[in-house]
Amino acid sequence: MESLPMYEKILRASQSIQKVCPTKPRVGLVLGSGLGAFGERMKEATSIDYDDIPFFCQTTVEGHKGRLILGHIGDVPTAVLQGRIHAYEGHDMETVVFPVRTLGALGVETLILTNASGGINRSFSPGDLVLINDHINLTGRNPLVGPNMDQLGPRFPDMTRAYHPGLKELFYETAKENRITLKNGIYCSVLGPTYETPAEVHMMAAMGADLVGMSTVAESIAANHLGLKVAGLSCITNMAAGISTENIKHEDVKAQALKVMKPFTDLLEKTIRKC
Ligand code: HPA
Repeated sequence: MESLPMYEKILRASQSIQKVCPTKPRVGLVLGSGLGAFGERMKEATSIDYDDIPFFCQTTVEGHKGRLILGHIGDVPTAVLQGRIHAYEGHDMETVVFPVRTLGALGVETLILTNASGGINRSFSPGDLVLINDHINLTGRNPLVGPNMDQLGPRFPDMTRAYHPGLKELFYETAKENRITLKNGIYCSVLGPTYETPAEVHMMAAMGADLVGMSTVAESIAANHLGLKVAGLSCITNMAAGISTENIKHEDVKAQALKVMKPFTDLLEKTIRKC
């Protein structure tokens, strides 16, 4: 089984999911660190442990549950990845993006990526919700390295509008209607697992980055390759190193993510209903 071509593995994973839940999802959602509670908003949901999906990896990060939830948000069939695989856990980029590619094979057209991140822009504060405008990939890795899988997408995907303008509009409109403050910024991704040094954060600020985190960009690249509409929603859980003098602790990151659960889930739910 292990030596199957990657494309075959993606098909097998999606077929095994379809056997449990034949409804084709239209929207996919990836829930980041401490943000898993959204899963409870799903109606008529079926959940499948990552362990029970062929070729899926279980996540090892505390605060991540590791299951796929299939159900509806309003009338919109939605697939939620509760917990993600990070490269810093020791996985290669193909493993990191495997769940997203499986959602693509299931028929998802829109992918919403969420994460916890550190604020670089001094106008941000912990607890802010930030829509990702664009990204800077500082991980030194790209999930599309290697022979191109032509069945999935082109060799040289365009990334001019990696975060879909129409989808961004939908988020802003929904935030406004519900009086939820939604900022925006450029997300810089690093490999981790260390948080950044103040000197690194200083460099990122000079490059134009507004927030920093250890996820999202690989998934965004893989989803753009598939031709999906992508949005990214971040929760600022702390100010990045050197912007604040406080030490950064994973426990505080998770605790802060929990504090914004209400506006975060409201914004997601109400936006997905319009997708
Ligand atoms: N840096 C990187 N990743 C993060 C941070 C941070 O400050 N906060 C939450 N995830």
